[in-house]
Amino acid sequence: MKTEHKLTALITGANKGIGKETARQLAQRGFAVFIGSRDIAKGREASEELCNAGYEATFIQLDVTDPVSIKTACGTFSQKADHLDVLINNAAILEDHGENILKLNPELLDRTLKSNVSGPIMVIQDFLPFLKKSPDGGRIINVSSSLGSISRMDDESPAYSISKAALNAVTKQFAAALKSDNIAVNAADPGWVRTSLGGPEAHRSVEQGAETIVWLAEEIDQSETGKFWCDKQECEW
Ligand SMILES: NC(=O)c1ccc[n+]([C@@H]2O[C@H](COP(=O)([O-])OP(=O)(O)OC[C@H]3O[C@@H](n4cnc5c(N)ncnc54)[C@H](OP(=O)(O)O)[C@@H]3O)[C@@H](O)[C@H]2O)c1
Repeated sequence: MKTEHKLTALITGANKGIGKETARQLAQRGFAVFIGSRDIAKGREASEELCNAGYEATFIQLDVTDPVSIKTACGTFSQKADHLDVLINNAAILEDHGENILKLNPELLDRTLKSNVSGPIMVIQDFLPFLKKSPDGGRIINVSSSLGSISRMDDESPAYSISKAALNAVTKQFAAALKSDNIAVNAADPGWVRTSLGGPEAHRSVEQGAETIVWLAEEIDQSETGKFWCDKQECEW
């Protein structure tokens, strides 16, 4: 992104894991980052860590499953910035590791869809006025997963996989709806990353997991929209 103004980015679930590292890398590149976290203490701590390192970071309390929390977060954001250049829908849950669709608990499915699908939709809808004010055209990045790829799908973690496939559909829907506003909407697969969600056996560090997300936030051409990206390459839905 070539620009003269201060770039802003809001990352949901940025108090730990890939979200926190994405915020760090964007702050390092000169973004004013907004650390979305549902937990006040953890969010403040993550934001202070960046500020102490000399970066511009602001904590915003944001529970993506709570419409009131999202609206309050918009109000807090509006007191600090008048536009949003990059929104990263990173927050998600995975509660059915090792489970199979034959015994999928519908309440677990509802919970997962609420966090991983309805959450990002509500966050995009409410932050859209700020994205529309981005001088370069806004960018929305939905953090998806290879488990959400329909072409590669098997029977692993059904609720989570279904939620990420739905998030991919959400990406296509918003990309089409926002094309005329010059807002790019893409999905990113970070790979298998060592976090509390990915587990200690995962192949990638959080630094590696954040790479494609940061690239989509800053480097890729604004005209690229409605695509699914893995390792900075377009991949199959
Ligand atoms: N790790 C992997 O191998 C992997 C692979 C593919 C895709 N991904 C995706 O990468 C993204 C980040 O995952 P991660 O591995 O970094 O997981 P993580 O370490 O478990 O972090 C998840 C973050 O989401 C937050 N969160 C969950 N529900 C929320 C809610 N309702 N409102 C606000 N924040 C909420 C968590 O907050 P709390 O601390 O309060 O729980 C935490 O900050 C997710 O979208 C995940 O699906 C990860």
